[in-house]
Formats: sequence, C-alpha cells, structure tokens
Amino acid sequence: MGQLLPRTNSLTSLVNSSYELNEIRIAPSILAWDLGDLERAVEISVEGGADQVHLDVIDGHFAPNITFGPGTVKALRRRSDLKFDTHLMIDRPQLYVEKFLDAGSDLLTFHAEVLNGPSFDELSRTVITRGKEVGLALKPETDLPAWAVDRLEKISTLVVMTVNPGFSGQAMDMSVMPKLEKTSALIKARGLKTDIEIDGGVEEDNVHEVVKRGGNVLVAGAGVYAKRDPVAAISVLRRRAESARREG
Ligand code: DX5
Ligand code: ZN
Repeated sequence: MGQLLPRTNSLTSLVNSSYELNEIRIAPSILAWDLGDLERAVEISVEGGADQVHLDVIDGHFAPNITFGPGTVKALRRRSDLKFDTHLMIDRPQLYVEKFLDAGSDLLTFHAEVLNGPSFDELSRTVITRGKEVGLALKPETDLPAWAVDRLEKISTLVVMTVNPGFSGQAMDMSVMPKLEKTSALIKARGLKTDIEIDGGVEEDNVHEVVKRGGNVLVAGAGVYAKRDPVAAISVLRRRAESARREG
C-alpha cells in the first residue's frame, strides 16, 4: 500500500530511484456474461487465473442501466474466494457501503463525480476500518479532482474509465489516454503504489496501449466473456499486458 512508501518531491529524484511498477492484474467484468448465470461467470474467472472479478453495480440514476446489488454479491461470495472488485456506479454510495462490505466485497470503488473530500473521508474510513480496499473511479470526462490528489494515499485503486458507465461492449475511448498518462506520472512522482485500473473496452489489441501508459489492472467484460473461449481470453490479455510491460 502506498502510504508505507516515502513521498518524493521532484521527478528528478525518481531517476535513480527503484520505483517498481505494480503487477499486472486481470479483472473480468461479469456484466458481459449471462446475468442469469453469474456463478458460471465467476467460475470462468477462476479457471482462467484472473486476479480479481469486477462486479458492476449500477442504480439507474448514476448511469442508464440497472444491474445487481449486495444480495447478488453475497450469493456469489458464497461460491468463490476470488478477490471481489465492486464498482459502485450509484448516486449515494453512503447508503450502501456497509451492505457491500457485509456482502463480501474486497475492493469497493466509488465515483469521484458523486463525492467531495469530506464524503470520501467518511467512506474510506468505513472501508479501511473493515480491512478492505478503497477505489476511486473517474468517468472519461472527469479529471482527478484536487480533493482526491490530496487523498491519494487512501486510494488503493484508481479506476480510469475508458467508456461511459452503463454497458459492457462499448469501444474504448482513446481520448482518455493523456489523462491516464498524467495520472500514472503523478502516482509515480509521489512514490505511491496505487493500482491504475482501466475499465471499458479493453481488448487484446489495445492492452498494449493502456499498459504502456501506466495501467496495470485490466477490466475486461466483452474482452473475456464475449469470446469463444473466455477462459483462454484471460491468459491472452495477461500475455499481451506482460509483453507490453517488458518492452518498457
Ligand atoms: C461499464 C462498466 C464496465 C464494463 C466493462 O459501466 O463499468 O466495467 O462492464 O465491459 P467492457 O470491457 O465490455 O467494456
Ligand atoms: Zn466497471
């Protein structure tokens, strides 16, 4: 976790530092699977060696879709030990944070657009007290707000969305790339170990691009579950990401 590492005050001090990039992680998004058979979706993630499974919770207000809630997360938790990465695309996360923690989420991601410094502080305190991780997500057009820059140490995962929240199967919005680069440079300059998760339209042919620009956690809905062999698709994404990483 980032807070254990010293802060660096200038980019030059990084030249000689041994900043180690975070490991590549693959996070299949079950929203792209048959919603009547989510147990199988989680099983596929396990069989494919995914590092975590991405659970998209949408309330019909924050984004134009309604998916599932804590009851579903809890039911899936009984069937798997895999890390649950719960992405809350909801207007009032304060009302549900405890429920998703009780349901078994390991990483709870909130959207910056519905928060400010004090409300983030309250949510992150609740999550961290329960021994779980905090994520902060940004829609494609949202820049990292100043209050979040001041609180980066509390954020385990910064979720950079590369589609508008709502649906799986959209094409990646490449106009987000400069923001991704800027954000990963900031995290590095601060000597933090925040994961940078890319969410939206990740496919084998764009993994290279996002890893080169600093993404290390790859969410993939259609990029896994719409493939003929979803189990194999997880390894393909991992191989592509790791080879992009090796190229530096
Ligand atoms: C969009 C969700 C994404 C989405 C990813 O609202 O947050 O996680 O399911 O699916 P793909 O990879 O198909 O864009
Ligand atoms: Zn998501």
